[in-house]
Parts: sequence; C-alpha cells; structure tokens
Amino acid sequence: MSDSPKLNRRPEWTALADHRTDAMARPDLRELFAADPGRAERYVVRVGDLRIDYSKHLVTDETLALLQDLAAATGVFGLRDAMFRGERINITEDRAVLHTALRAPRDAVVEVDGENVVPKVHAVLDKMAAFAEKVRSGEWTGHSGRRIRNVVNIGIGGSDLGPAMAYEALRAFTDRSLTLRFVSNVDGADLHEAVRDLDPAETLFIVASKTFTTIETITNATSARSWLLDAFEGDEKAVAKHFVALSTNAEKVSGFGIDTANMFEFWDWVGGRYSYDSAIGLSLMIAIGPDRFREMLDGFRIVDEHFRNAEAPANAPLLLGLLGIWYGDFLDAQSHAVLPYSHYLSKFTAYLQQLDMESNGKSVDREGREVEWQTGPVVWGTPGTNGQHAYYQLIHQGTKLIPADFIGFARPVGELSEGLKAQHDLLMANFFAQTQALAFGKTPDEVRAEGVPEELVPHKTFRGNHPTTTILATELTPSVLGQLIALYEHKVFVQGAVWNIDSFDQWGVELGKVLAKRVEPALTEGADVPGLDPSTAALVAAYRELKEV
Ligand code: F6P
Repeated sequence: MSDSPKLNRRPEWTALADHRTDAMARPDLRELFAADPGRAERYVVRVGDLRIDYSKHLVTDETLALLQDLAAATGVFGLRDAMFRGERINITEDRAVLHTALRAPRDAVVEVDGENVVPKVHAVLDKMAAFAEKVRSGEWTGHSGRRIRNVVNIGIGGSDLGPAMAYEALRAFTDRSLTLRFVSNVDGADLHEAVRDLDPAETLFIVASKTFTTIETITNATSARSWLLDAFEGDEKAVAKHFVALSTNAEKVSGFGIDTANMFEFWDWVGGRYSYDSAIGLSLMIAIGPDRFREMLDGFRIVDEHFRNAEAPANAPLLLGLLGIWYGDFLDAQSHAVLPYSHYLSKFTAYLQQLDMESNGKSVDREGREVEWQTGPVVWGTPGTNGQHAYYQLIHQGTKLIPADFIGFARPVGELSEGLKAQHDLLMANFFAQTQALAFGKTPDEVRAEGVPEELVPHKTFRGNHPTTTILATELTPSVLGQLIALYEHKVFVQGAVWNIDSFDQWGVELGKVLAKRVEPALTEGADVPGLDPSTAALVAAYRELKEV
C-alpha cells in the first residue's frame, strides 16, 4: 500500500473549504436561480432513460468545478478503470470488484487473474434461464409431481434485499400465478408467516447465500427443510425437487444436503450488496422471466458504459457522488433521503441502505489511517406521498440539512384501470410541489400577503433552500430499474474513491456475529459467558428470568 496524502490536506479539499466559507456561506436557491436562470436547463444530465436534474442544489459552476478537481486529484477515474479491468481494488479482502462483469455482453472480455470470466457469467445466466423457464412452464415439478406455485427465497443482506426490492419494483412484469416470498430474519416469525398458507408440495425454496455460512440463512433453510420433510414423511428425496442454492461455496451447499447440480454459482469478485444481477437474482428471474431479466441487465450496462466513458462534467454517478461529498463534508449534512414516487419502489431505499451504508460506513482510509472527514451518510426514506404526511415536516422546517433524491415517472406501469391511471398526475403533482417547496420555501412577506396574523408568520414561513435531485424517467421498466441501481452503485463507488476508503469490505458486521455466537448458549442453556460485560450480563439474566415466567 502506498501512502497517499490525507484527503483533507489536499489543496483541492482546502479550496472547497475556502469556497464554502467565502462564496457559499449562505447559499440561497432563490438567488442562485435569479443570478443564473439558465441553470434549470444546464444542470441536467441524461443517462439512458434517466433525466437527472440537479439545478436545485446549493452549488454554482465554481462549486462543481472545484468538486471535479477533487475527483481528479483523488484519482476516481483511475480507480474506476482498475475496477472495470478486474484489479483487486478490494484491498482488505484482496479481491477484484466485478459486479459490472455480471452484465457484460457475451462477447466482452473481462479478466480476473488472466481468465476471462464473461463466459462463466453467461453460462450461469443460461442455466438460470433454463431453470426459470421450467418452473414458469410447470415442467419443473415438486416431489409429488405437482406444479411449483410458490417460490420462497431464503437469504439475508445482499442475498435478500436486491431480489426482494426488484420483485416489488417489477411486480407489473411478474407472472401473477406464482407467489413469491422472501425470508431473511432469523426471528422464526418470518418463516412462519411466509409458509403458513403454502402447500409444501407446490413450494420451491431458493437458499441464497454467497458464503453459505450465514447463521440466519442456514437456520431458516434448516427449518424450511424440516417443514418440507414433515409434509413428505421424512422422505429426503423430496429435497432435490424443492431446494436449490445460490452460492459461491459448493462444498457448503453439498454439506447442507442440496445437490450441487441444483446450485447456481457466482464468484468472490461479486460483493453481496452488488449481487442481485448474479445468480442471487434467480427468484426475480422466475418471477419476471429471463427476457425481462436480461432487459434489466441491459439497463445496468447502459449506466456502466456511461460511467466508464462520459466526461467528468456530464458523468451522472460522478456528479451525484460529488454533490453528496459537498453536503456531507462541507455543509454538515448527516443524512441523505431517497424518496421514490412509485409504490413499486417501496423497498428501493431499504436496498440502497445496504448498498451505501455497508459500502461507505468506514472510518479508516485505505492506508489504515483514521479518517478526518465525513464518510457515508445515513440513507433513509420511503415512497412519496406517504412520507409527506409523516416526516417531511422535519425536512421542510426542521433544523437539519437533508439532501434528497426524488425519483418519479411520467407514466404508471401495469394494468391499472383508467381511474387509477389518472391518479398518477396527482402523485406527480405532489412530486413537483415538494421539490419546489423545499427549494424556494415561502418568505415571511409572502406569508403576510396571505393575511396570516403576525404571530403565526414565523410558523408558516418556509426557509426553503433544501437541496434535491430530481430523477425522471418515462416508466419503471426492468431496464430503468437496472439503470437506477447502477447509478447508485457507481455513485457509492465515487464517494468511496474520493474518501479513500475500501467500499467493498464490511468488517463492521463481524463483531456482532461473533458476540451473538458467544451469548447464545447463555440464553438457551444458561451457560456462563466468560468475560461478559456487566451491562450485557444483567440484560441476559433479565431475559432468562422473563423467559421462565
Ligand atoms: O453480514 C453482512 C453480510 O456479509 C453482507 O455483506 C451480505 O450481503 C450478507 O451478510 C449475507 O451474506 P451471505 O450471502 O454470505 O449469506
């Protein structure tokens, strides 16, 4: 590891800090638009089907130029190229980072240690497609010869959030005769509720785990196996027809009792949170069919190509990443809201939480030094308009700066009645109204002009100046979903590259796993846990007492 200068000692960083103090101490969107009316047209970038408007941000051309200088100085594009080339940029795990190879065209060449991985990627995609078609057509039957009508994906983190999110997002494209469920929580209630009304003879379990060692997934898969075998009077032969696995670990899969012929493989150069377009997407592929799945991959690829080739000023992931750095590091924002105006994107932000927070929730740089700058934000949000009647109050009139992404579509998808289709304009009227209100607010004089009594004027004033990005597309198709996810993947990449952190490891989840293993015997058998701290020891004792009541 070569030592690079600390980020906050770089002149490009200092220049931004000075800019923030001098020019932008009180950035005001009303003034910015008054001084530069053309920014509404100029501050727009197009990628594939996405129109990304960043005019309502607390930036000027100078801010953007300084941010791009920072990106250049920190070698963002160099690291990007190293990623696409298959270099081992995940330094703490010594791995390549090649989720982009998962959507490479058949004739592409992407090498890891001298081996072109693209043929392997397509071999697995073809195997998935053949299997998905068999399930969808009824050719793949359960142990008693009955057609599969229910698919239950058991996985957690990246082995759950991606397919669960995308299944919701693309519901309009799914085979409605199939029931899909996603089980992740080791709380037995999750599996119970998922299978309680299902017929085991018609149910396929997909056990999704990159490592095949994750305790939650293995526990739930073991319980699902018992549920199945109870229905088949313990006939182990049933497992082969009702269980398939998605994993990088053939040995563990076969140790669990799943035939490796029924395993769909992926590789250690696919990070868990970057994996839903790998074999981890099998449940989704069964739901939407292989053609739609491929359309989604095409969408990912459009943004990959854009990220790889677009010049800095028009490079959307670069731009969004840099805007986040501006707010987090120079304007003290702690969080970032993602607010999709589509019911189908109800799980989108939850998916992004892992993508962003597991990637960039780091506090040492790539050289192992404590960082002296802010890294990843708290990512949160739920679909509009529900949030408007819950927490938007705080965004509008609270004390915190919360940059937000608004994602909306010009047309609804699915077979909605004419009446329900007409509701779309109302949804989108809210979408536009919110970003307008957030940006421009309402001055005390405007409030007074409405005849509001003086004592209420401060309460009814909206300071405005809340920055938002508006992402618009025509429809939420599989391709557009792929484009959106790739946009955020690369945005997270850009930020990690500037912050000089390893965005591809996740050591922060390990300690909790180890401690849970140590504490479990104390809960189940009352065993002593050596070295348990007094606070946790008292809680464990209280738990045991309550359990016995
Ligand atoms: O514990 C965190 C994590 O490793 C995530 O990064 C990953 O997506 C999840 O657990 C599930 O891991 P696996 O797919 O190996 O079961």
